[in-house]
Amino acid sequence: SKDWNGIDHVLLRNPQGASARISLHGGQVISWKNDQGEELLFTSSKAIFKPPKAMRGGVPICFPQFGNAGSLEQHGFARNKLWAVDDDPPPLPPNDSVGKSLVDLLLKPSEEDLKFWPHSFEYRLRVSLAASGNLILISRVRNINGKPFSFSFAYHTYLSVSDISEVRIEGLETLDYLDNLHQRERFTEQGDALTFETEVDRIYLNSPNAIAVLDHERKRTYVIRKEGLPDIVVWNPWEKKSKSMVDFGDEEYKQMVCVDGAVIEKPITLKPGEEWTGRLEISAVPSSFCSEN
Ligand code: BG6
Repeated sequence: SKDWNGIDHVLLRNPQGASARISLHGGQVISWKNDQGEELLFTSSKAIFKPPKAMRGGVPICFPQFGNAGSLEQHGFARNKLWAVDDDPPPLPPNDSVGKSLVDLLLKPSEEDLKFWPHSFEYRLRVSLAASGNLILISRVRNINGKPFSFSFAYHTYLSVSDISEVRIEGLETLDYLDNLHQRERFTEQGDALTFETEVDRIYLNSPNAIAVLDHERKRTYVIRKEGLPDIVVWNPWEKKSKSMVDFGDEEYKQMVCVDGAVIEKPITLKPGEEWTGRLEISAVPSSFCSEN
C-alpha cells in the first residue's frame, strides 16, 4: 500500500503483467489494465481524487443503497469512506484465493454512519486479479446487529469504450427494466441487443449470470459474470447530463458505459449473524467475430 494523491492505495499485479489499483477511499477499484498495459476502466479527466466524494470512474461501491431514496446519501456511504486493509485475509470458499493476486478491504460503520443507518455490519471486499487477467470482486456483508436489516447494492462499473455509438450489450434482450429517467417505471426490453443513441439509466431485472458488452470499434468484448447480483444497471449520461456534472468532461460520455452487477429491486435482508455474498468477474477479450467492414 502506497500513498497516491494523498490516499492509500493497493496495486495488484499478476505474473503476465495485468494490474489493478484499489483506493482505500471507497474501496474503489480505480484502474484495471490487461497484460498489454491497456486501461479497461474509464476514469474522467475531471475526476476529483480528494475525499469525501468518490472519484468519477473505476468501480465505486454503492452500499447500503443504490439511488437516492430516504435519508441516506446518493448510492450510500460506502464509496465515501476510508476502508482498512486486512493484512491476514482468511481463505474463503470456493478456492477464491488460489493462484490469485488479491487484497481484502474491510468496512465497519462509524458512530456517524450509525446515526443515518442504525445497523452494525462487517463488509469484506476481496479484489483479485486472476491468472487470466480477469478482475474479480467479492463482497461479503455480515449482520453483526441484534436485528435484521435490508440493503441494496451495486458495483458501479465504469467500462472504457472507444465510442459509445459502436457499443452494444447482449444478454438484456426481453428483460423487464425500471427506468430511472421515468421514476423507475417498469418497461420490457424488445428483442435486440441494447445500443445507445440517447441517455440511458435503467435497472434490468433478473438478468442472466453472464452478459457481454461489445466494443465494435476497439474489437474488445467485456464479459461480466455475476453471482448473487440479479440486476444490471446500465447508465450513460449522454450530452446534456454530462454538461451538468462538474467532475465529468462534456464529451466523455462517448468513452464510457456503466454496467453494474446489482441488487436493487428486491433488497437483501440479513438476519442477525447472516452473511450475503455478491461476486462479479469481468474479463476483457478480443472480439472474435468482428468483420473488417
Ligand atoms: C447511475 C444512476 O447509476 O449513477 C444515475 O442511475 C446517476 O442516476 C449515476 O446519475 C451517477 O451517480 P453519481 O452519484 O456517482 O453521480
